[in-house]
Amino acid sequence: MILNRQPVGLFDSGIGGLTAAYAIIRELPNEQIFYFGDTAHLPYGPQSAEAVRAYSADIVRFLLDQGCKAIVVACNTATAAALNSLRERWPEIPFIGMEPAVKPGARATRTGKVGVLATAGTFKSQRYASLMHRFAKEVELLENPCAGLVERIECGQLNGPDTEAFLRNILEPMLYAGVDTFVLGCTHYPFVQPLIEKIVGPNASVINPAPAVARQLRRILEGQNLLSPELPGPHRFFVSGEKGNFEALASELLGFGVSVEAGVTF
Ligand code: DGL
Repeated sequence: MILNRQPVGLFDSGIGGLTAAYAIIRELPNEQIFYFGDTAHLPYGPQSAEAVRAYSADIVRFLLDQGCKAIVVACNTATAAALNSLRERWPEIPFIGMEPAVKPGARATRTGKVGVLATAGTFKSQRYASLMHRFAKEVELLENPCAGLVERIECGQLNGPDTEAFLRNILEPMLYAGVDTFVLGCTHYPFVQPLIEKIVGPNASVINPAPAVARQLRRILEGQNLLSPELPGPHRFFVSGEKGNFEALASELLGFGVSVEAGVTF
């Protein structure tokens, strides 16, 4: 039996899913979060869907063993590779996935051109093809896998001239082509959203789907009577590899001191 005071599990390849955790903590302050960053296997983007499916299943088993009542796949790449198989394997568990906000992007654009920033794994997935097919018939999507950006963010290079030049190389050709709406289709990328917004300027919009995912989690927990009435305990953070910059970046983003349990293997 699932109880409302059990934690919500989140996972990603590294710190990216913390951008979803941030939105969830704001939307649902009574929910305790158990977060897993698979830093031993980062980045997921260039790896095969089979590999990402296998990592995801191991992590979900771990989070369920820790007592999680619901799982947010706080990673677009893992959602694309693994969400269906996770739902089949654990049909009693509510899963919430994340995918590039192509539909809101297509609604928002006035030029008819939407820039999608996601990983290679997300772009080559069936799930992305289906999003395009359903929601982007009337607009043009300009895509960029931002190779190397995830690693840069993991290293804490969130601003500074190097990262700005890196992002300009990606964003300026899109701007020149007429893109006025940018979709952050990888949970790492909101870490550099201020820099992206500075580059694209006030006439373009940048969509981070994390607040919508937090609202979706609320609807699902509410629908199953699983909303926690009060915060049952401190949030917990696990990584499969080294601590690296996790604690510093997580503490800065979330606004409280995060300590991480590192080297978690199954
Ligand atoms: N943050 C992840 C995503 O949303 C994956 C990044 C990676 O490990 O390549 O796609």
